[in-house]
Parts: sequence; structure tokens; C-alpha cells
Amino acid sequence: MKYKAVVFDAYGTLFNVYAIQALAENTFKGQGANIAALWRDKQIEYTRLITQSDPHNSAGSQYYLPFRIITERALEFALKRLKLSYDSSHVSALMAQYDELTAFPENLGVLQKIKSAGLTTAILSNGSPDMLASAVQSAGMVDHLDHVLSVDAVKQFKTSPESYALVEKIFLKHGMVIHKNDVLFVSSNAWDIVGASWFGFQTFWVNRQDLPFETIGNQPDFSGSTLNDVLTVLNISND
Ligand code: LAC
Repeated sequence: MKYKAVVFDAYGTLFNVYAIQALAENTFKGQGANIAALWRDKQIEYTRLITQSDPHNSAGSQYYLPFRIITERALEFALKRLKLSYDSSHVSALMAQYDELTAFPENLGVLQKIKSAGLTTAILSNGSPDMLASAVQSAGMVDHLDHVLSVDAVKQFKTSPESYALVEKIFLKHGMVIHKNDVLFVSSNAWDIVGASWFGFQTFWVNRQDLPFETIGNQPDFSGSTLNDVLTVLNISND
């Protein structure tokens, strides 16, 4: 087997975040897609702002805020930007969706097969540990993942090299020496694929929405439209 570990991004890759947009649409008619897009962009923008503004601090960025807080502030920004009238109950209801996410339909089976083939499975996410624990539980993935890694451990968000380096560190802690190219990193975020590839991982881009890839950086080593296509790359049967 070419790889020793398959490491997944969380939101949009393993966890289906569509329910969030659906609730936003239900609450603010005609604005669900706009809210979801602005919310996500602002959430990721804040992670970069925090990381870039203090990138070399070994204790992490002094501006670090847990992803749960960033996510809530980003939602408030999106609602304000769209000039929607809202109160704290709207914010709480939308935020609560993050703790109740489901898996994309094929994901549990794919994770199971990867583990049965003897590979180690992990999440590496910007999500704060409490958010990831709830989502892993609600998506039924507790037994399918060997490690759930949050960048909270280094207080730098992806795509900082320190965040991707958490993967090697956790394996070493468990007595397993892995090299960067022993890792297949799987994400539906093209920017995450670029960061992971620059770091040195092999990459698989899950392009569920038929989007164009980034126009800078390395192309993904592999891509597919669902997680099932990861099995093909790993030479694992999907029967
Ligand atoms: C994550 C986001 C970026 O899980 O999807 O890290």
C-alpha cells in the first residue's frame, strides 16, 4: 500500500453542511444561499486574518479565537451585510446545526473500508475540539476515525504549516513514524488542497459541486466527485 494514513478535512468533506443553508433559507426566505456563501467566506477569512497576523509565534497566534467563536462572528457579519433583521435566537439556531451534522451518504462505508484495509484514518480540521466531537458523534463516525485533530492544539489555522504538521506529530506520539508522502490528504476545499500539497502531502480533492480548481498552486494529485473515488486511488474494492 502506497499510503499509511488518510487524513480528511471536516466541514463539507466528511460532514454535510447543507442543512445549515436549508435552515438559513427557511428562516430568511430567498437568502439561504447568500447567507451560507458569505458566512463561509467570512469564517475562512477570519482564520487567515488571525493566522497571518502572528504567524511565527510558537505558542500560536496571539489573536487566536476558537473556530466556534469565529463561526458565530462570521454568521453575524453575513446577516448584517445582507441587512437582515435577526436576534440571538436566529444565531443560536443556525450555530446549533454545526453540532448536528450528518455524513454524506457514502462516507461511513468509505471510512469503514479504508480502516479495514489497515490504513489509519484521521480528521485534521480548523474546527474547535468541542465542535468536532459533536459532529463526529452526530454523523456516526466515532468508530471510523483513529484520530480527530483540531488546529486548536497549535492555535494556527490551516493553511499554516504548523497545522498540517499536527498529523506527523500525532502519529509519532502513537509510535508510528510517517513521512509526508505517506499521507493522502482529502478535502473538498481547493485552497486546503493547495496548502496541504505545498506542505508535502499527497492530495485528493473531492469536487462534489463540479467547481473549477484554484488557479494558483499545485493541482491535486487525485480528484473525484464523491468519497467513493478515494477507494479507487487506494486500490480498495467498493463491493
Ligand atoms: C475544516 C474546514 C476548513 O474542517 O472545512 O478545517
